[in-house]
Amino acid sequence: MLKVQNIDVYYGKIHAIKDISFEVKKGEVVTLIGANGAGKTTILKTLSKVLKPSSGSIFLKGEDIKNVAPHKMIEMGMAHAPEGRRIFAQMTVLENLEMGAFIRKENKSEFDKDMESIFARFPRLKERRKQIAGTLSGGEQQMLAIGRALMSRPEILLMDEPSMGLAPILVDEIFKIIEDINKAGTTILLVEQNANRALQIANRAYVLETGKIVADGDAKELLNKDEIKKAYLGG
Ligand SMILES: Nc1ncnc2c1ncn2[C@@H]1O[C@H](COP(=O)(O)OP(=O)(O)OP(=O)(O)O)[C@@H](O)[C@H]1O
Ligand SMILES: [Mg+2]
Repeated sequence: MLKVQNIDVYYGKIHAIKDISFEVKKGEVVTLIGANGAGKTTILKTLSKVLKPSSGSIFLKGEDIKNVAPHKMIEMGMAHAPEGRRIFAQMTVLENLEMGAFIRKENKSEFDKDMESIFARFPRLKERRKQIAGTLSGGEQQMLAIGRALMSRPEILLMDEPSMGLAPILVDEIFKIIEDINKAGTTILLVEQNANRALQIANRAYVLETGKIVADGDAKELLNKDEIKKAYLGG
């Protein structure tokens, strides 16, 4: 589904991503874990073409995305639920979801069907569909960001710290939803500081430290590794 080969990304002189390679296979949940500033968001922004790698290649479904325009990434099947729940704050919940579907050209009944399935997943959004998105609670905004990304019917969904800032009960709910989305057929690349929870739902993981991958492997195996426990799982 996604193959990243030896990419480097700079912010001016800051070498944020250093020769990173990884892949996400169709149907997998893969997680990138790492502390603040490790480069997780930078990688997702590079995948969705907000940032340009100075070297290396990225392939989506076998196609090199180097010359693909950023807005075409959604048409190619990649959606990004960005960090900090970047919803359209001045628009209603419904309008935000419509924006997520703007690339789709099929008839209204298909669109309504997807809207209903998103409302079934997030009943709170249905109750609040006419509410201005900026007035939603943090957890509701996170759900809206995920719902909006799903409206483009992505084959692969990039999620940047979906559990950030949420109360424990909502964290449980978000991780359950991520599992459900994956079971329904969407491949997921999940970026998280909550390494424990991310590793529990992921198939495979890559551990990022100051722009480099320092470990990778089966998620359940990493959960039981002493070095990983010490550094990322609080003991
Ligand atoms: N626009 C920018 N200009 C300069 N440096 C930046 C910029 N954005 C990020 N960086 C730096 O690049 C590094 C990686 O940042 P990034 O946002 O990718 O980290 P992260 O792993 O997502 O962290 P967090 O968990 O805190 O979100 C950090 O050192 C950060 O300060
Ligand atoms: Mg980040």
